[in-house]
Amino acid sequence: MKLWGGRFTKETNQLVHNFNASLPFDKRLYKQDIRGSIAHVTMLANTGIISIEDKESIISGLLSIEKDIDDGKLEFTKEHEDIHSFVEAHLIERIGDAGKRLHTGRSRNDQVALDMKLYIRDEVVEMNELLKGLLKVIHRIMKENTDTFMPGFTHLQKAQPITVAHHFGAYFEMFKRDRGRLSDIYDRMNYCPLGSGALAGTTYPLDRELTASMLEFDGPTLNSMDSVSDRDYLIELLSAMSTIMMHLSRFSEEIIIWNSNEYRFVELDDSYSTGSSIMPQKKNPDIAELVRGKTGRVYGALMSMLTTMKGIPLAYNKDMQEDKELTFDAVDTTKGCIALFTGMIDTMVFNKDNMENSAKHGFTNATDAADYLVNKGVPFRDAHGIVGQLVLYCIDKNIALDDMSIEEYKNISPVFDEDIYEAISIKNCVERRVTIGAPGQEAMKKVIEINEQYLSK
Ligand code: ARG
Repeated sequence: MKLWGGRFTKETNQLVHNFNASLPFDKRLYKQDIRGSIAHVTMLANTGIISIEDKESIISGLLSIEKDIDDGKLEFTKEHEDIHSFVEAHLIERIGDAGKRLHTGRSRNDQVALDMKLYIRDEVVEMNELLKGLLKVIHRIMKENTDTFMPGFTHLQKAQPITVAHHFGAYFEMFKRDRGRLSDIYDRMNYCPLGSGALAGTTYPLDRELTASMLEFDGPTLNSMDSVSDRDYLIELLSAMSTIMMHLSRFSEEIIIWNSNEYRFVELDDSYSTGSSIMPQKKNPDIAELVRGKTGRVYGALMSMLTTMKGIPLAYNKDMQEDKELTFDAVDTTKGCIALFTGMIDTMVFNKDNMENSAKHGFTNATDAADYLVNKGVPFRDAHGIVGQLVLYCIDKNIALDDMSIEEYKNISPVFDEDIYEAISIKNCVERRVTIGAPGQEAMKKVIEINEQYLSK
């Protein structure tokens, strides 16, 4: 059945029908479509636009359609253009004339705007919960590893010693901000477009406040043209998801490096790794690589949406139907990646000795050796030069700063004393960093406590 056959004298060309149809992908909005229609007819009856009997028969018809779809008894057959026509056609088939009153004071333009907002709202909430689950795992790892030492890097060169808790704490902050972005999007989008009609409202005395509150919105939208053509919230969501994926991708890249034969900082669980069909020794970090790879796909969706929207005059245009496939794909991808990534790091084991050894042997304590000299009165610039000589000496002998004898130290600068060993021990290098945000145990524990409170909310 067509919703618009009246002014046409010819059948639609089959290819045109297929090209135009959105049912193959907007079928996933059936619950939202039915929920919106129930709110709409309830309001229509409440304001006296349709009778109570019609309302009741429409609602029971809609609920029977929903149940049959849930149970797999009603299939999405190809002759229907979109989910809206599909539901309406089946409603009329089931309840007759009353079904024809459902669309009073409504257009598919405000209907699809509503369906999509209802859908996205739930997805945003779910994604936020998934991120919370990820943060809980990061939090657990932080609590267990405030004294697991490792090198911190800049330029992927060993820089200064840090701890696993500190490194993971950086990602805690990122994913916490990501959750904040999702909440902001929810608050900004949470206004109900229903009642905007095709673009200019309707002549019926609709109660838009009522439908908005029935559907748990903060209120009705305030401009009907904007309501049917606003896709800003999707662009914001795609951007927020791109940022989540960017964070997951950086983290994945690190795990791939840490899991490599050269680093061996971590060991991925067998249940989160894959093998090679030819090389029996291989255990590959495919999950992390896929997360990194899928990031491009989510970025692509953001670019598609921005590009689709940039030349569209007000109000609704069919271009906007393109919002669905790419948003659905990006949402599914992002949610899947968060869940998989969470499981992967939850089961990952740290090779603590390798991490600490790596920190020792990469001169990550060189800055502390310079600070030691400064504390003994040497100007920093001179101290920097002296420690540079120490490093050269060690590289030549293939040893760490900790391995030099006190004579060797004194040969380079007489200022050095026995207390240098204490000053450059990896543990002390970390422990001296006590300001909030730094890796020292005390500072770290304060942050972990703040995170604990954040997660308990
Ligand atoms: N399938 C359409 C979409 O996703 C629904 C709105 C159709 N409106 C219209 N006037 N053809 O955008």
